[in-house]
Amino acid sequence: MSGERNGATASLEAAREGEVPTHVAVIMDGNGRWARRRALPRSEGHRAGMTAVRETIEGAAEAGVSHLTLYAFSHENWSRPPTEVEALMALLEEYVRSQGEALARHGIRVTVFGDRMRLPEPARLAITELETSTAGGAKLDVHLAISYGARAEIAGVARELARRCVRGELSPEEIDAERFAAELLTRDWPDPDLLIRTSGEQRLSNFLLWQLAYAEIFVTAVLWPDFTREHLFGALVDYRRRERRFGLVET
Ligand code: IPE
Ligand code: IPE
Ligand code: MG
Repeated sequence: MSGERNGATASLEAAREGEVPTHVAVIMDGNGRWARRRALPRSEGHRAGMTAVRETIEGAAEAGVSHLTLYAFSHENWSRPPTEVEALMALLEEYVRSQGEALARHGIRVTVFGDRMRLPEPARLAITELETSTAGGAKLDVHLAISYGARAEIAGVARELARRCVRGELSPEEIDAERFAAELLTRDWPDPDLLIRTSGEQRLSNFLLWQLAYAEIFVTAVLWPDFTREHLFGALVDYRRRERRFGLVET
């Protein structure tokens, strides 16, 4: 069994020793199992997961990561029981309201992407306030995927490009990967270099299907509420051992 399955940790010094990925994306999974092991309601797992969010943001800033994308709520998650969805929305609002000031103070700029029109109004307003209050941050860009689904994102791009073709502004021959990517919700950021998924699941769950084409994947068995900055540093150290080939031959 490789180290990362056991939740290898590393120090900040080790994390900063060599090349640090520019963009780290995280599928924050395992809150429900964390709660079940403690005979607690699932919502308590989500609450405990907020500590891991703070740890990861602070750790990424310390290590010198430039972009951190966190998968907080998927399109498919809307189909969970209403009580759980409500608890998640309430927590989201609470997180944004309680952390906004500290995030701004630490130079963290937060942007949210996904179908925000589906969010309840208080959560939507809180998000807009957070984006505004942290807009001046220059240390770390945090992107929260909320009500996000990659297939819908890709279909949306296809729809937009098709509209332009119909209007005569674009010809189908002009559509290539670059032009396509320029319409994605993530168009202003580089693609993730490293994808971390907690709780041992080895799947993408409709997260950034286009953007992760060449990301290095790191799966850890650690459940999200137990994830600390030292686990993040461990993943950064592991990343450095990878040889990224992008389809080319070894040099
Ligand atoms: C991740 O934890 C949080 C969200 C998907 C919102 P889960 O709620 O998926 O926890 P598990 O996977 O059931 O343990
Ligand atoms: C992925 O986790 C979504 C988020 C972490 C927000 P899920 O728990 O929803 O994914 P599946 O159901 O295990 O694929
Ligand atoms: Mg899950």
